[in-house]
Amino acid sequence: MLVIEGLNAWYERSHILQGVSLKVDEGEIVSLIGRNGAGKTTTLRTTMGLVDKRRGSVVFNGEEILDLPAHIRFRRGLGYVPEERRIVGGLSVRENLRLGLVAAANKSREAEAIDRIAETFPRLKERLDQTAETMSGGEQQMLAIARAMVSEPRMIMLDEPSEGIMPVLVDEMFELFANMRKQGITILLVEQNVERALGISDRAYIMDQGVIVHAAAAATLLADKEIQDRYCSV
Ligand SMILES: Nc1ncnc2c1ncn2[C@@H]1O[C@H](COP(=O)(O)OP(=O)(O)OP(=O)(O)O)[C@@H](O)[C@H]1O
Ligand SMILES: [Mg+2]
Repeated sequence: MLVIEGLNAWYERSHILQGVSLKVDEGEIVSLIGRNGAGKTTTLRTTMGLVDKRRGSVVFNGEEILDLPAHIRFRRGLGYVPEERRIVGGLSVRENLRLGLVAAANKSREAEAIDRIAETFPRLKERLDQTAETMSGGEQQMLAIARAMVSEPRMIMLDEPSEGIMPVLVDEMFELFANMRKQGITILLVEQNVERALGISDRAYIMDQGVIVHAAAAATLLADKEIQDRYCSV
C-alpha cells in the first residue's frame, strides 16, 4: 500500500532523513519507533507532502506521490493526524467533523458520515454539540482522529496519538485502532508508548538519526529489551 524508498528530507540545510525505506502493506498496523529527534515526525510529514526539500520515492497504491501536493495525497486516501492536533477549539464536535468532510470535498452525505463516525467513537457521539475546547486532551485527540476518518482514508498516519492522555483514554484509543484495522484501515503509527504500540502492530521499524536501523515483527521487538533500551528511551 505504501512503499517508501531512499527518502531524504531537509529542513533548511539540516539533512534530517538520510535514506529512509519502509513499507506498509494493506491492512497492517506498522509502528515507527525511535528516540526524540530520530526523524519520525519528519518521515510522516514528508510522506504527506509537507516537507519541501526532499528526494527519494513514496509510492502509494502503486502511484509515485513524492511530488504531489498534500491535499492530493489526502484525496488519494492518505490520512494524517499530526502531533499537534489541529482541531478548532471554538467549534463543536459536530462542526469539527464537518470540516473533515469539507476537506474531502465529499459534502453530500454529511449526516450519514457523521453518524457513522459517531458509532466508531462513542465518546464523541455523546458530545457532538459540545465545544471542542471544553473537552479533555484525550477527547480532543480522539476528535482529531475522527475528523481524519470522516473522509474515509484507506490509510492513516498517526503521530503520537496517546501523548499526554490519561490512561483510561489511552486504553480506549488503542481499542479504537484495533477496530479501525478491522474496518480495513491501514495504519502507520508513531508512538512513544512502545509496548502498547508493538502490542497492536504487525511489524515495526526503529529509526535513529534519520535512518531505519531495525525492522522486525512487532512480537520480536516486544521481546527484545536490549533494542528497546538502546533506541526507544525518551
Ligand atoms: N521545522 C524544523 N526546522 C528545523 N529542524 C527541524 C524542524 N522540525 C524538526 N527538526 C529537526 O529534525 C530532527 C528530527 O525531528 P523529528 O520531529 O522528525 O523527530 P521525532 O522522531 O519526531 O522526535 P520526537 O519523538 O521528539 O517527536 C530533529 O533534530 C529536529 O530538531
Ligand atoms: Mg515527533
